[in-house]
Amino acid sequence: AIDFTRLARQTGLTSFDPGFVNTASTRSNITFIDGDKGILRYRGYPIEELAEHSSFLETAWLLIYGELPTKEQLDDFTYRVLHHNMVNEDFKRIFDIFPKEAHPMSVMASAVGALSTFYQDSLDPTDPEQVEISTIRLLAKMPVLAAYTLKRSLGEPLLYPDNRLGYVENFLRLAFGTPAEEYELNPVVSKALERLLILHEDHEQNASTSTVRLVGSTQANIFASISAGINALFGPLHGGANEAVLHMLQQISDEGMGIPDFVEKVKNKESGIRLMGFGHRVYKNYDPRAKIVKATAETVLDELGVHDPLLDLAMQLEEVALKDDYFQSRRLYPNVDFYTGVIYKAMGFPTKFFTVLFAIGRLPGWIAQWREQNADPTTKIGRPHQLYLGETERHYPGV
Ligand code: ACO
Repeated sequence: AIDFTRLARQTGLTSFDPGFVNTASTRSNITFIDGDKGILRYRGYPIEELAEHSSFLETAWLLIYGELPTKEQLDDFTYRVLHHNMVNEDFKRIFDIFPKEAHPMSVMASAVGALSTFYQDSLDPTDPEQVEISTIRLLAKMPVLAAYTLKRSLGEPLLYPDNRLGYVENFLRLAFGTPAEEYELNPVVSKALERLLILHEDHEQNASTSTVRLVGSTQANIFASISAGINALFGPLHGGANEAVLHMLQQISDEGMGIPDFVEKVKNKESGIRLMGFGHRVYKNYDPRAKIVKATAETVLDELGVHDPLLDLAMQLEEVALKDDYFQSRRLYPNVDFYTGVIYKAMGFPTKFFTVLFAIGRLPGWIAQWREQNADPTTKIGRPHQLYLGETERHYPGV
């Protein structure tokens, strides 16, 4: 194998690659993407098959441990995850200190980071047992923390998890249930949410996953690493795009703007407006996840009897954009975020909460990637170079 570090030192050459457009930061066995063909596979399994037939926890196991679990393995995993979903009563006070209007992604990043204060027995990345228990704790508590973040923002009481329910059903009940009455689950909605979460589980070295790896490369604990990943996901060019898409559609609708006029505005670079939910660093073809999301949007809205003009607007926008030379020449297609917001809205989630759903979905991928790096003895601390362009040397006045 070529020792690139030595080669760079010997030759004195540094590659300059803003945005890491062409630089592999790692080797990985987890997720494969062919952006030109629009292919996404987890551990070799096509995303379409997993979204249709697998469950969130089964896919999480696949990503983290490398194979599909046997029935016994999955039952045991599900049991362990569900039986770690309680949140310490003292910990819950964290949700009271934030203003109600705080962005839920900020609350989530704080809450997940704060897990390291309560679980000091699982912070050592060199101890496989601690890595294992922190994996279970993260998967177990993340949706509960998310539901509590939502409830507190609404000023509503927090429920305890109900382990007769599955992972996704439990989350829906915690998010929308009340102590006063039994929460009525809609199986079409929970199935659809599970499918969306599976679609988000991993996406190789995207910005948030790269962040998790970079922080993890310092041997920071997994809670700290994933809290950093949540903050990276927050940005509108990444996971925050699902929220931004809905604001964009709402604005077009409120202002009564014609779709062609909006598209012209986007094409004019001076406007600084992007078509949110369109374009991707890796996909130069239809994002395979977006196809499934689009079909799911129609199913969910039909089931709930919701007619949302924003869905019509999104479809028209897609149609106009895909025929336009600006988008065609740059190979810009809808990405996973383009249609998710419309579904989350129909399910009853506030717009500000959409990216938290992305974070719940992405958690297994972050864990799998952190663990893959952590288990690799050749891992080095991430430390990019820079090209220094500042002053060479000058002196303090009078010196
Ligand atoms: N609307 C309008 N123009 C766009 C868009 C868009 N959504 N996306 C890219 N372009 C244009 C750029 O202006 C650029 O044009 P130019 O060559 O004339 O300068 C060209 O397409 C290439 O764009 P880059 O910004 O260089 O592409 P990059 O790979 O760096 O960015 C990104 C990818 C950030 C996803 C971009 O497409 C974007 O901003 N999309 C909108 C936000 C979004 O939906 N993000 C979610 C991504 S998926 C995810 O994280 C889950």
